[in-house]
Amino acid sequence: MANRERLLNVGSTVSKKFSATETTETELKKTSTEKESELKLNNNPKAADLLATAQKVFLPTYAPNLILTHSKGALIWDSDGNEYIDLGSGISVNSLGHLDSDLLQALNIQAGKIWHTTNLYLTEPAIKLAEELVKATFADRVFFCNSGAEANEAAIKIARKYSSLSQPAGKREILTFEGSFHGRTLATVTATAQPKYQQGFEPLPGGFRYCPFNDFDTATEMIGPQTCAVLIEPIQGEGGVNPVKPGFLSHLRKLCDQHDVLLIFDEIQCGMGRTGKLFGYQWENSEDSEQPDNSV
Ligand SMILES: Cc1ncc(COP(=O)(O)O)c(C=O)c1O
Repeated sequence: MANRERLLNVGSTVSKKFSATETTETELKKTSTEKESELKLNNNPKAADLLATAQKVFLPTYAPNLILTHSKGALIWDSDGNEYIDLGSGISVNSLGHLDSDLLQALNIQAGKIWHTTNLYLTEPAIKLAEELVKATFADRVFFCNSGAEANEAAIKIARKYSSLSQPAGKREILTFEGSFHGRTLATVTATAQPKYQQGFEPLPGGFRYCPFNDFDTATEMIGPQTCAVLIEPIQGEGGVNPVKPGFLSHLRKLCDQHDVLLIFDEIQCGMGRTGKLFGYQWENSEDSEQPDNSV
């Protein structure tokens, strides 16, 4: 079988899985007649055409069936004119809501000046943002990335590089926690201690170990001279909304100090004000003692 044909077959297997999900969703919808009457039927020919095109041209990695057109604050509308409250908020990233006027103004002004440059040059807004972040957080320096996965990759690389400077070999192990989610690149999907995200992508990069979440004793056993970094979400997001137990972060902080290990917090989902404090880890009582060495 030609490679192209094989790839298309993988696509249709995954598509069938999606259709099955859609059927269940449709059945669920039918039970709620009230809801059904509120939503207009998807009889907009333009939307139907676009959906058909999307199914043909996108890899079937997700199963979206809404075409969104515009938004304001917490509200978002689809191409059939249905209005929704956007509780997903772009999977936890639109913390300011849609079309925040200050953000819109800043983007418009900047778009009229320089849209993109590389790390080889500086721009004033980037310097000011980095300065603000340094002022507001534990961090002394900032590195901007394009996504959560890329930020975690960078954090893992920084930790390994740091170890390599003092120890030419050994001390490269990254410890993460069962139920975590750190991204979908090869290294971050390996850091993500959930087999369902890893299946089919083996062989995975080496040097990762997994500890049960909130297990004080096992963490004590697993963190040692071989450990390079401990990476943890102060509140697990994709694994369920699982906060760390009181005292767990300070326990990790102590173990990391004891074994010269970097403590990294993944705040991609629980940081930037989403829990009412700037960072999720700040819900621990004595903020200073649980500060990380790096945070993404
Ligand atoms: C805790 C956490 N880390 C990392 C990521 C990966 O972020 P991105 O999708 O921007 O690569 C996510 C995404 O949901 C996340 O929830």
